[in-house]
Amino acid sequence: MRVYARTKLLHGFLLFCSFAFFPSCNSSSPSPINPQSLTDRERDGLAGNVKAALTADIILMEQNGQWLEGQQASATSVYDAAGRRMTQTPFRVAMSNGYAITQHELLFDPVSKGLFNLDNATKKYIQYDSQGNVVEKGSQGNGQKSAELSVQYEFDARGNWTKRSISRLAEKDGKQILLPSEVSHRYLVYFDSTGESQPKTVLAAAETKLLKASIAATQENLDAGKAHFLQRCSACHGENGKAQTDFAAAMPVKPADLTGAKLSGLSEGEIYSFVRGGISGSGMPGFKSRISDEAIWQIALFVKQLSSNLVEEKHNQLAKATPTPKSTSTAEPERRYPLTGKVLSIEREMKQVVIEHEEIKGYMEAMAMPFPLLDEKMLGRLKKDDKIQATLVVGVGYWRLENVVIK
Ligand code: HEC
Repeated sequence: MRVYARTKLLHGFLLFCSFAFFPSCNSSSPSPINPQSLTDRERDGLAGNVKAALTADIILMEQNGQWLEGQQASATSVYDAAGRRMTQTPFRVAMSNGYAITQHELLFDPVSKGLFNLDNATKKYIQYDSQGNVVEKGSQGNGQKSAELSVQYEFDARGNWTKRSISRLAEKDGKQILLPSEVSHRYLVYFDSTGESQPKTVLAAAETKLLKASIAATQENLDAGKAHFLQRCSACHGENGKAQTDFAAAMPVKPADLTGAKLSGLSEGEIYSFVRGGISGSGMPGFKSRISDEAIWQIALFVKQLSSNLVEEKHNQLAKATPTPKSTSTAEPERRYPLTGKVLSIEREMKQVVIEHEEIKGYMEAMAMPFPLLDEKMLGRLKKDDKIQATLVVGVGYWRLENVVIK
């Protein structure tokens, strides 16, 4: 599969260069596509009548020789029929105390379709497929290409990718090789998408009902299940499990309310088998071989608990405390807001600070949540309980703090 994909891409690249003459392979030649004429949807790298997109960028980690999915950041966009973006949530990692908004690496350029862009000064190149998706990045010296990043895609019937696998140059056993590094899953809803909700009884055979978790429902396992749930399930099922998200509203088969009476009738074994296998035709993905079996059980135990009223109450509080940041649109430049607050904690490794801040007028109410802070010096200097003033910079799909001043 992998070999096939690479050969095909390489083939496409060679063909392009021989038809287009070599100078344009070192493309700084003007592109015929005017970015201004693109719709939001096209600028986001989507073809056809996409109504909503949920993109999950996930870091891979090796566990017992297997590459499994680790931390996940998700973003959703909803479009109108003309391709204008109606709502957008930035790439964010859901955490128990709020969200971390992450930078998202753009591996797409709608005006570079089919190009091989070589920067003559740095000798760095980027190779795009016929749709403007990056397939390889690296450097080229003495006519030799040396890849530093390689990307494989799986496409749906309309030519949009639904799975993207990224390998990066890294050291293993003393050698520099391309190793799996990230994977992205993209769930797309088209205006004419239809889904089918399948009867549960068919999917959950009698024996799955009796299936028992291989782990105990300790607080540790439930917390781990919750962390998985917030990152992997909440874009569709909501942080509180009630499935009242923008993306859920756009789906032809509505994600199940996991807090409802209906769900409490499911056994942990049945929840486990839904999460493991997914529900075909509905959009509910299966997590088998994406995360460990233990993680699936942790999720199942957490969801089972979620369906009881006690936990529901707590979750409503959590959901209230962590509202979605307001939508932004690509037409807008970066926006800046003054922020005043108190430092609750500093996460130097993740380059972020958790701030309890006052109301940010015109943007969000007062709350405590993490903010990326890239200024290393300031990260080193900040202490818990410091009172600060700063500028919150908000762009499309990211935000960060700048100009931090300790009061
Ligand atoms: C892309 C959206 C999406 C994501 C992500 C997603 N689900 Fe679902 N889920 C759905 C949809 C849609 C259904 C309804 C399927 C149907 O009715 O046939 C569903 C159904 C379910 C059901 C069956 C409930 C019932 O009563 O029938 C369970 C349990 C469930 N999801 C749990 C999860 C968990 C746990 C996760 C994360 C590990 C998750 N889902 C991730 C969309 C999603």
